[in-house]
Amino acid sequence: MFSTEELIKKRILIVGSNGMLGQRLVNFYKNNPRVELLTVSAADKPLQDNTVYKKLDITNKNNVREIILNFFPDVVINAAAFTNVDACETEKEISWKINVEGTGNLALYSWTIDALLIHISSDYIFDGKAGPYTEEDKPCPINYYGRTKLAAENSIKASGVRFCIIRSNVLYGPAKYGRADYVKWVIESIKSKKEISIVTDQINNPTFIDDIVYAINKLIEFKKEGIYNIAGNELLSRFDFALRIADFFNLDKSLIKPIKTRELNQAAPRPLQSGLITLKAQSEIGFKATPLENSFEIIKKELNEY
Ligand SMILES: NC(=O)c1ccc[n+]([C@@H]2O[C@H](COP(=O)([O-])OP(=O)(O)OC[C@H]3O[C@@H](n4cnc5c(N)ncnc54)[C@H](OP(=O)(O)O)[C@@H]3O)[C@@H](O)[C@H]2O)c1
Repeated sequence: MFSTEELIKKRILIVGSNGMLGQRLVNFYKNNPRVELLTVSAADKPLQDNTVYKKLDITNKNNVREIILNFFPDVVINAAAFTNVDACETEKEISWKINVEGTGNLALYSWTIDALLIHISSDYIFDGKAGPYTEEDKPCPINYYGRTKLAAENSIKASGVRFCIIRSNVLYGPAKYGRADYVKWVIESIKSKKEISIVTDQINNPTFIDDIVYAINKLIEFKKEGIYNIAGNELLSRFDFALRIADFFNLDKSLIKPIKTRELNQAAPRPLQSGLITLKAQSEIGFKATPLENSFEIIKKELNEY
């Protein structure tokens, strides 16, 4: 016998469906017969075919209310954000509006209808002095993007909504449309014989985007709430990450040059010794990160198809 809950389709609202993570989430859920999907993003049009799409600017409270109250989702997944870390330093007002107030709007109306809000946060809420971090470590952002991501987490917690906050770092896995992810950028740069300078002193555990998608699905399935780190299983510098990509894709490694973060003179300071410990997700939802080379194998096939 099926329970009534199992017979009813789950309504899932994907916010920021045109983004790098948003597109992979849409791909994962769009053909699932047990899911009724609505995708929303800031642009007039969706980047993918065959999905029900509406334009939504999450900073517009009335619009958020209208979409959420009309669709009445069981789950709202927020993959929308102002993600340009350096631009956050100079465009503080708009980055706050999107990352904090926009998230607050989603939390308010998800709370109103008792929907579960799944929100993506970042290791940039930490200062990068003592990573990798657990879910219990004390946040201390050192740039404005990190401050907005922490404030977004706090506004979710204060709203009373049922939530899962997923903290992740260095998402990779190319989306079909839009900007190139790190892997595609390294491949394209080297193939066009461009020299790339990559930092040796920023340490993270890069995260294959599909691992976040699967983790989100498990969190929903196991009815989990709270904060979960979802990240890869190897801590390495961006420089070493680029070398691993070059090795796998048989690229000329001599074009990858080491550099220190301070030499880049970026607007936003970066957490250096960062990364996220995923033991909680491993024990509670059976999370298992895809090994780097296995993820490259998947990416290779996809890049050929695109
Ligand atoms: N990328 C990383 O390395 C990384 C690391 C840790 C955490 N995260 C977090 O993961 C999440 C997804 O990141 P991502 O790399 O997939 O981001 P992304 O590719 O930059 O996509 C973000 C999407 O947000 C949408 N958006 C922006 N402003 C909006 C607004 N006012 N209303 C509605 N939608 C809006 C944009 O939609 P349109 O395209 O339609 O304009 C964009 O496609 C973000 O919360 C990010 O902070 C990312």
